[in-house]
Amino acid sequence: MTIFTPTAANIARFAADLRAGRVVAFATETVYGLGADATNSDAVLAIYETKRRPRFNPLIVHVSDVMTARGLVDFPPLAERLARFWPGPLTLVLPRRPEARLSDLVTAGLDTVGIRVPAHDLARRLIAEAGVPVAAPSANPSGRLSPTSAAQVDAAFHGAVPVLDGGASSMGVESTILAVNGDSVTQLRAGALARDEIEAAIGQGVAVAKSGAAIAAPGMLASHYAPNAMLRLDASEPRDGEAYLGFGVGDGALNLSPSGDLREAARNLFAMLHQLDATATRIAVAPIPHHGLGEAINDRLKRAAAPRG
Ligand code: TXA
Ligand code: MG
Repeated sequence: MTIFTPTAANIARFAADLRAGRVVAFATETVYGLGADATNSDAVLAIYETKRRPRFNPLIVHVSDVMTARGLVDFPPLAERLARFWPGPLTLVLPRRPEARLSDLVTAGLDTVGIRVPAHDLARRLIAEAGVPVAAPSANPSGRLSPTSAAQVDAAFHGAVPVLDGGASSMGVESTILAVNGDSVTQLRAGALARDEIEAAIGQGVAVAKSGAAIAAPGMLASHYAPNAMLRLDASEPRDGEAYLGFGVGDGALNLSPSGDLREAARNLFAMLHQLDATATRIAVAPIPHHGLGEAINDRLKRAAAPRG
């Protein structure tokens, strides 16, 4: 067992590990992250190796405050307005500043950086104490279900990675990723911040990137977030031999939200898929409405159900 409680001593120990170039896992409000010093290429390489992640997929850089972000990327006026969602479950893809000290492996050679200030106190304290920007993908082997608890991370890497336990992730799906280009903004990945909320805040529309677009992301590969079990979506009821993941009224092995609340469903999504995956070989999932956080939930379900390449 390599799960550590969030004491001051353990935070200091994890911060020292990060500075020393080691890979550690830690809680964020979206999902658990697998972090390393974003300025250290060996450390970043160790993330790719631990996750068995394809090298062409860039990593999100996590910083503890907006000030630090300004040293790494340019902020056009529209990005300034979007940054008011920080700290929070939003990643902005912005032009990399020439003087930014970041490993080229983090950006996979792109001239942009995906950057985020997480809202989870523990994550921010850890990053601030480490004193380096922290590259952190979700803490799961590439292509598999994302973790929303320390125990899931520990199980996924068989105890090989120390995990700083910040409790169950309050959001449960990854950050929303937006690319800002001049005064237009494109959503590259639906996530824990709903698109309609973003549109209301900035008073303009957010375009949606087509899957297979040039700025491909692992979260945008057809098959991702895959459980071992076969998944059948939009199922109004289970067939013989299927475990049922419900939504709203009705019964089932588990229910994402009996009251039909999409925030609750997002928070439960990966945890319940993990849980059903441990016992069932076939899972049927109830229809989920597409508005608000339903966009992110349906995106994850579609990829989880896709044929494996
Ligand atoms: O909530 C989250 O975002 C979590 C927590 C740990 O912060 N992290 C996360 O990271 O989901 P990951 O690596 O699983 O997903 C990062 C996504 C990938 O789809 C990647 O391609 C995209 O961000 N990305 C990162 N930098 C990018 C860039 N410069 N341009 C386009 N996409 C980028
Ligand atoms: Mg991921």
